[in-house]
Amino acid sequence: MKKKKKTDLQQSIMEEKNDIETSTGDSKFTLLDVIRIIGGLLLLNAFLSWWFTSTGTWGYDGKWLDIRYLQFQLRRDYVNLTSDELKLYNGKNPKYPIYLAINGKVYDVTYGRDIYGPNGPYEFFSGRDSARAFVTGCFDKPDEFTHDLRGLDQEEAMHDITSWQRFFENHPHYWYAGIVTHKPIEKDIPSPCEHKKFPGYHVRNT
Ligand SMILES: *[C@@H]1O[C@H](CO)[C@@H](O)[C@H](O)[C@H]1NC(C)=O
Repeated sequence: MKKKKKTDLQQSIMEEKNDIETSTGDSKFTLLDVIRIIGGLLLLNAFLSWWFTSTGTWGYDGKWLDIRYLQFQLRRDYVNLTSDELKLYNGKNPKYPIYLAINGKVYDVTYGRDIYGPNGPYEFFSGRDSARAFVTGCFDKPDEFTHDLRGLDQEEAMHDITSWQRFFENHPHYWYAGIVTHKPIEKDIPSPCEHKKFPGYHVRNT
């Protein structure tokens, strides 16, 4: 009698154990499992990326990895500057981003500090709207660095300006940052310069 009771007890313990085993065995994915799988895939992705491209991002090195661009995309805080305010962003103050402008549109070129910052080969574009110089290409003539487009072939000018704007907008490291507004122009039209891109320019404007 006593023995039977014991086997009954053993039996019920066994059954309970089986119940526990089957209930855990066919349980659904837990959150932890999902995290493990995603983690594993990320690790595999990183490993393959390193293997094939020696980078963790399949060779991508553009502005979407730039923390400043991500913040800008998140906040969408486009600037609205006057030409005087724009001067502050010429790269002289390392705390400020570097901006250049083309016909009222401002571009963030901070990534290119070596090019657009102090002593860079194109530092003359920074902190101002040089729409005219972008059209004429006359970089050795200081009065070309203006948004003043008077006297130029307007169709040519707009064509050039649009394509330069597109260049900075679609650049892997630069982006459109907002607008700059100018006071009305009071100076004389800049004198014609030797037009580097369009040989006909000089003839048409004299
Ligand atoms: C930019 O600022 C000027 C002056 O503060 C304002 O008149 C204008 O509406 C603003 N433009 C935009 C697009 O916010």
